[in-house]
Amino acid sequence: MLHPAMRCHRLALGLGFCLLVGTALYALWLCVKNWLPFSYVPYYLPCPEIFNMKLQYKGEKPFQPVAPSQYPQPKLLEQRPTELLTLTPWLAPIISEGTFNPELLQHIYQPLNLTIGLTAFAVGKYTCFVQRFLESAEQFFMHGYWVRYYIFTDDPKAIPRVPLGPGRLLSVIPIREHSSWEEVSMRQMETVSQHIAARAHREVDYLFCLSVDMVFQNPWGPETLGDLVAAIHPGYYAVPRHQFPYERRHVSTAFVADSEGDFYYGGAVFGGRVGRVYEFTRGCHMAILADKANGIMAAWQEESHLNRRFISHKPSKVLSPEYLWDYRKPRPASLKLIRFSTVDKNSNWLRS
Ligand SMILES: *[C@@H]1O[C@H](CO)[C@@H](O)[C@H](O)[C@H]1NC(C)=O
Repeated sequence: MLHPAMRCHRLALGLGFCLLVGTALYALWLCVKNWLPFSYVPYYLPCPEIFNMKLQYKGEKPFQPVAPSQYPQPKLLEQRPTELLTLTPWLAPIISEGTFNPELLQHIYQPLNLTIGLTAFAVGKYTCFVQRFLESAEQFFMHGYWVRYYIFTDDPKAIPRVPLGPGRLLSVIPIREHSSWEEVSMRQMETVSQHIAARAHREVDYLFCLSVDMVFQNPWGPETLGDLVAAIHPGYYAVPRHQFPYERRHVSTAFVADSEGDFYYGGAVFGGRVGRVYEFTRGCHMAILADKANGIMAAWQEESHLNRRFISHKPSKVLSPEYLWDYRKPRPASLKLIRFSTVDKNSNWLRS
């Protein structure tokens, strides 16, 4: 029989021992943790919801979510020189004049009473493009549908009041001024995803994100509607994939290997169902944040991230360069119509 005081003493000893072992194990864990290959880079961008997010950065290892699969590059000008490819290898239609019947599509989509959103950024001197952009959109963009324009700007007073047709609304959304045009261009994915979450998901069914320094020149209708829509860049539709201006540095999350890629898509046109555009822009934003944490700016800023993401998240509909043209290029015979095109501008003046 033990004396009660003795039992107490033993209990206290036991507890003290446990505490000691626990502390020792914790110290050991802290040591081991430092030896693990991961280190956490705290990243403080002034975005409230991700302010405390920690991004994993694993040395110099390339960012590769899945091993890239190898397959031949689809070629827009594949078969005959004046006919465009109409289907991607993953069975997404490639839209160009002559591949669809506008009256039939009107018949199918009109009764659905859809609302189509359109975002554009008019920051700094780019406000001078808004008038021409909106006037041409009024003439050609989604005629006969509900349309909501969202113009993001750092100078709401500079946005002209363009007369709009019935069922069409313009919202001017103020955003903060940024120091450089690169910074502006890196913030569009973030701004669009936050705008969809806050507001646009309730207001539109489909959303297109377009560059404001362009004009509509021919009808842009329901043939462009799809879950996730990309447009082939006018500068690279006849170029082998290893010459695409993808981000080629391994440390960037936008890295693309020489053997990867379908089409080089333009950052000036993308869209889809509003929920899918949310996922898409959010994914791009996260990849951009990871790059920022590592001090990297992708070769073509957001366009590089957009192209990286479209490789793993394939568009369900692809727009031919009719929907994203560059007025300086001679029009090839295979493009029967130019619907949306750049306008003359002096980019050095704009970026200064
Ligand atoms: C069509 O959509 C508009 C705007 O979203 C709405 O005001 C209207 O009530 C809808 N009409 C029908 C028939 O559902």
